[in-house]
Order: sequence, then structure tokens, then C-alpha cells
Amino acid sequence: MTDNAAAQTGPTPLTLLGTGAMGTALARAWLTAGHPVTVWNRSPARAEALAAEGATVAASAADAVAANRLVVACLLDDASVGEALDAADLTGRDLVNLTTGTPAQGRSRATWAEARGARFLDGGIMAVPPMIGAAGSGAYVFYSGSAALFEEHRATLAVPAGTTYVGADPGFAALHDVALLSAMGGMFAGITHAFALIRPEDIAPKDFAPLLVSWLTAMAPMAHQAADQLESGDYGKDVVSNLAMQVAGNATLLRTAEEQGVSVELLSPYMDLMERRLAGGHGDEGTTGLIELLAGR
Ligand SMILES: NC(=O)c1ccc[n+]([C@@H]2O[C@H](COP(=O)([O-])OP(=O)(O)OC[C@H]3O[C@@H](n4cnc5c(N)ncnc54)[C@H](OP(=O)(O)O)[C@@H]3O)[C@@H](O)[C@H]2O)c1
Repeated sequence: MTDNAAAQTGPTPLTLLGTGAMGTALARAWLTAGHPVTVWNRSPARAEALAAEGATVAASAADAVAANRLVVACLLDDASVGEALDAADLTGRDLVNLTTGTPAQGRSRATWAEARGARFLDGGIMAVPPMIGAAGSGAYVFYSGSAALFEEHRATLAVPAGTTYVGADPGFAALHDVALLSAMGGMFAGITHAFALIRPEDIAPKDFAPLLVSWLTAMAPMAHQAADQLESGDYGKDVVSNLAMQVAGNATLLRTAEEQGVSVELLSPYMDLMERRLAGGHGDEGTTGLIELLAGR
């Protein structure tokens, strides 16, 4: 097994498995910063552009892993990581998995990698490819797993995007990633419903969009109040819009949707939870207590 890291000084050489949209952006960022990069992709044609930009293209995933101690995987899903690395010798490697997965997949992939002699760090990328390597884009990656690996490669990992280490549990990066993506889903659902409401009218979407953005931006800090309530265990702490008032207001939202000919299928699951919590005698709280219903308590 060769190991470029032992023979070189300067920017750490690394291997990148997977040159899809995200893998290509990552490889470009490291190449631009002067890191020697060995790439492998299941379909070789997709790695050709990077060869022209200075990357070394390995013939197999096993060869790519053999080339460098630091190995980054950015493949479609957890199963593809297992397939790609099936025949590779991971002994002494530092495997950083930037493939999106679940917390349980992160934990079992860590056990799998460690049993093969590697240190393991899981990552969840909070960015789209154009944000990678772009100064000021706000791109970052959640990391969890081996703290020693993270500390040793921190500077290299910080090249394509910011780094946020969230703990030794290898499932935590995925959990943070998925929690933020899930919150985003709720936000996009709300945006979709709002545009559906105005669409039948003579209201320019381009005039409406800034209003939507500033309202959502103003409301987003309510997450801090929810955190405060969860930590204190008091769901009624500092509530300014209580559940009883909000449920009464929901009738207006539902009626407006009906008047505009818009389905309420994006809104009603959340409203149903609010009504259940109110019926349970929690009208003085805000909405943080809905977590109890989601958790089946
Ligand atoms: N794109 C984004 O906006 C974004 C944002 C955050 C996180 N991510 C995550 O980044 C990862 C890669 O995404 P991407 O955008 O680069 O996707 P992509 O463009 O579809 O690329 C998928 C990559 O996985 C490879 N692959 C798929 N199945 C494989 C298998 N069984 N064995 C080996 N390789 C396999 C593909 O190889 P072939 O070329 O041979 O098909 C390709 O290199 C995903 O986990 C994604 O969730 C993406």
C-alpha cells in the first residue's frame, strides 16, 4: 500500500470517492487550494473533467483508497459506500463519509469502518454544489465521530466549506443534517401554500416574495424561545401567542384557503396537532408542546 501523505509536505493529499455534482465541487475546491487529489468514480467518464484540472484518476476504489490516508466518500447513499469500499483495504485510513444518510447508518458505517482498521468521521453537507469552495457562501458541513480524525484534518476539511463538529457519536452529523432539512421542508411547504393563496389574484409574485422572506426571517428566531422552553421544561414560558388564540386564528387561515380555492393539505396536519394539544388542556402554551404529541407521549 502506498501512502502519499508520508512522502509529501504541504497541503494534505487526499482521495475522493464519487465525482457526482457534489463530489466534483469538493474535488475542485481541494485542487484549487493545492491539495493533491486522487479521484474515483463508478462511471469513469464522470471523473475525466477533474483529470484535466490536475486530479489523479484511480482505476478502482481500492486503488484510490490505497493512494492516500485521508479518504473522503461522497456517494449517492449509504449502500453505495458499502459497495464502493467492499474490496478496499481500509487499514490505517481516515475515512470521512460525506454521503447523506440516517443517524443509524452513520453509526453502523462507523462500526463497519473501524472493524476494518479505519478511523471514521461522518459528515452532513449543509450546502448545494455552487456554494462549495465559494468564499462567504455560508456552506458548512456537520461532522461527528472520531474527534482525533477531525482535529488532525480540520484545516483540510475546512477548504471546501466550514466545519461544525457536533460530537463523538457518529450518528449526530446525520441527525443535525436531517433535522435542519426537515425544518426546511416545513418552511418550503409554507412558502408553497402562501404563493398558492395569492396566485389567483393580480399580485406580482416578485412583489410578494420579499414580504414572505422578511416575515419568515422575523419569525425564525422563535426557535430560540422553543429551545428555552424545552430546556426549562415549561412550555408556557414567555408565550406571547398562546395555543388557544392560534387555533382560533387557524379557522381564518382555512376559510381563506377555501375562498382562494386552495387545498389545505399542507397546513392541516400541523393544525390538527395544535387542536389535539389544545384539547389536552394546554391552551396557555405556545406550540413547543406539540413535540410531546410527535414523540407519542
Ligand atoms: N447535490 C446537492 O445539492 C447535495 C447537497 C448536500 C448533500 N448532498 C449529498 O452528496 C451526496 C452526493 O450527491 P451528488 O449531488 O454528488 O449526487 P450525484 O450527482 O447523483 O452523484 C452520485 C454519485 O454516487 C455514485 N454512485 C451511485 N451509486 C453508486 C454505487 N452503487 N456505487 C458506487 N458509486 C455510486 C455516482 O456514480 P456514477 O457517476 O457512476 O453514477 C456518483 O458519483 C449524496 O449523498 C447527497 O445527498 C448533495
